[in-house]
Amino acid sequence: MLAGRYATVAVALALLLSPAVAEETPPPDCDASSAYAANSTFQANLNLLAAALRANASASPAGFATAAAGAAPDQANGLALCPGDTNASTCAACVAAAFRDAQQACPMDKGVTVYRDACVLRFAGRQFVDFLREDQWLISELVPAIFTDPARSVNTSDAWFSAAVTGTLTALVDRAAAATNATRKYFATREMDFDPKLYGLAQCAPDLMPAQCQGCFRILQNVVVSARFLSGRPPSSSAFVVWCSLRYSAFVT
Ligand SMILES: *[C@@H]1O[C@H](CO)[C@@H](O)[C@H](O)[C@H]1NC(C)=O
Ligand SMILES: *[C@@H]1O[C@H](CO)[C@@H](O)[C@H](O)[C@H]1NC(C)=O
Ligand SMILES: *[C@@H]1O[C@H](CO)[C@@H](O)[C@H](O)[C@H]1NC(C)=O
Ligand SMILES: *[C@@H]1O[C@H](CO)[C@@H](O)[C@H](O)[C@H]1NC(C)=O
Ligand SMILES: *[C@@H]1O[C@H](CO)[C@@H](O)[C@H](O)[C@H]1NC(C)=O
Repeated sequence: MLAGRYATVAVALALLLSPAVAEETPPPDCDASSAYAANSTFQANLNLLAAALRANASASPAGFATAAAGAAPDQANGLALCPGDTNASTCAACVAAAFRDAQQACPMDKGVTVYRDACVLRFAGRQFVDFLREDQWLISELVPAIFTDPARSVNTSDAWFSAAVTGTLTALVDRAAAATNATRKYFATREMDFDPKLYGLAQCAPDLMPAQCQGCFRILQNVVVSARFLSGRPPSSSAFVVWCSLRYSAFVT
């Protein structure tokens, strides 16, 4: 009993100490297309997948891993991607937490995508990584998940804010798509010394072709700079699909 109570206190403290972390990303995306049963073979495979992705994404210099566990029809397939500035321990902890998020938000769902600050996780019963093949890649099927902070506002003109965010993200995605060294592939951050300062981060999964990465970023950028999401001048915004992510935040004082 004592251990249980202590755990509850520790969770509450963690929430108090890092209020921003959970709020900066969209909620998990449940496929809701097929469910698995408790203690089924799929669940056992999903547990194996969780361990493999956690170990392999964090051990990979690019912070990226794909894996499959078990055989069809109970195969669990997955992908985990930690941004280029995430170290191995943060990456491993994030992938583990993302599996817990998935189980909580989408219980027994065979297909879930989770977006967190330090990782993106997707798992499914089918082999979705095939989507990257040239004959499968259909950019129109990428539907971004976006999170903006509507409660706060940057104190500038609409025109200034729109130009600053657009300019920052354009330079950022060009640089990220061209960043192809083995350790930090398709990853870039950028700080623009405006008043307020704007900070941006862009990351594509390393398995993408350069043109796929550029196309992926273009979709996210269009969403982030659309009037719908820039109106109200939110001080932070993050947009994700499984294959790429794009974020900005303004240092508001
Ligand atoms: C699953 O296994 C756990 C532990 O063995 C057990 O407590 C639980 O009742 C089982 N659930 C089902 C639905 O079989
Ligand atoms: C994890 O990575 C190692 C080394 O690349 C590889 O041999 C192993 O098959 C990977 N595990 C899974 C489950 O993919
Ligand atoms: C990894 O990064 C986290 C968060 O930035 C930091 O707290 C931790 O000390 C780092 N760990 C190592 C081993 O560098
Ligand atoms: C917004 O900025 C203007 C000009 O700098 C200033 O006069 C005003 O007080 C600011 N408003 C808020 C809510 O900070
Ligand atoms: C890869 O790129 C990053 C960022 O540009 C740089 O800091 C790092 O040194 C590069 N690594 C190698 C092995 O070139």
